[in-house]
Amino acid sequence: MDAQVKKQVLRKLTYGLYVATARIGEEAAAATVNWLSQASFTPPLVMMAVKADSGLHALLSKGATVAVNILGADQKGLAETFFRPTKLEGNTLNGVPFADGETGAPLLTGVPAAFEAKVVQSVPGGDHTVFVLEVVAVHLNDPDAKVLEMWDTGWFYGG
Ligand SMILES: Cc1cc2nc3c(=O)[nH]c(=O)nc-3n(C[C@H](O)[C@H](O)[C@H](O)COP(=O)(O)O)c2cc1C
Repeated sequence: MDAQVKKQVLRKLTYGLYVATARIGEEAAAATVNWLSQASFTPPLVMMAVKADSGLHALLSKGATVAVNILGADQKGLAETFFRPTKLEGNTLNGVPFADGETGAPLLTGVPAAFEAKVVQSVPGGDHTVFVLEVVAVHLNDPDAKVLEMWDTGWFYGG
């Protein structure tokens, strides 16, 4: 397999952009992710690949629930905020205000929609682990918002 062609082919997959957040007490993790997809209607399952050496991975492995904050088309800057290591200060994550969700996972203020989920399975594979998540709570703040798509950002995470 040609490494360059493999990269070009895998980069033709399409994605959205999300900020996944989790918290146990004073330990919090937030990461901008794109490797995420719905995986079942009943029960409602979503799969998300999480970098094995990340703070989010550590918290999900310890049983934290997760909030997936769905970004609006105009929230590229918010995505950038969560490429960096997470700082929890009061009720902010990297300076962005949040409220506790029903499961305790942090819901970022100002996103058009979010869901909370619990980990039901994890599948380690290479440098990322696929977490299978069951959606247990949903939040719809702006039903008509256009969402942020990876292709429109000019960024790539894949290949
Ligand atoms: C465009 C882009 C997409 C990303 N997608 C993912 C992803 O799908 N899964 C993931 O675990 N990390 C992804 N990352 C990396 C995380 O955003 C980054 O590791 C995390 O915010 C930093 O957390 P850490 O300091 O705990 O590693 C992506 C980074 C970029 C720049």
